[in-house]
Amino acid sequence: MKKIAFGCDHVGFILKEEILAHLRNRGVEAIDKGTWSTERTDYPHFARSVAQAVIGGEAEGGLLICGTGVGISIAANKFPGIRAVVCSEPYSARLSRQHNNTNVLAFGSRVVGGELAKMIVDAWLDAEFEGGRHQMRVEAIAALEQQID
Ligand code: RB5
Repeated sequence: MKKIAFGCDHVGFILKEEILAHLRNRGVEAIDKGTWSTERTDYPHFARSVAQAVIGGEAEGGLLICGTGVGISIAANKFPGIRAVVCSEPYSARLSRQHNNTNVLAFGSRVVGGELAKMIVDAWLDAEFEGGRHQMRVEAIAALEQQID
């Protein structure tokens, strides 16, 4: 992925700045969807901005940070077409791309440090969806969104 939308709440702000620098070093363009300070705010707003950027095609994928990564990933997953995963290690991040075709990665600034967060982000950005037997499973998730069966 070469263009991503990036959002966080106030708890994730410091880590977002660190990861933004890392993305620049990697040559990944990041659209910063806020928040832009440690002033208290609410994570659903930033989940929405990132999810809409991904669904609308402004970005290929999204990154989200809150304290745990949990609330902000739950919020993002409310948008049909978003497959958000919260990860605290690189293995799940990689497999979530290869098998689940995740398009949003979330993590927690109170859970992972900066260096581990960079490893998680790198694993996720470097991995590609494998398709094949995983394709119909991802399509079955989309069918659940439509309440088809
Ligand atoms: C904010 O205190 C905190 O609840 C939020 O960052 C996140 O951890 C929610 O899941």
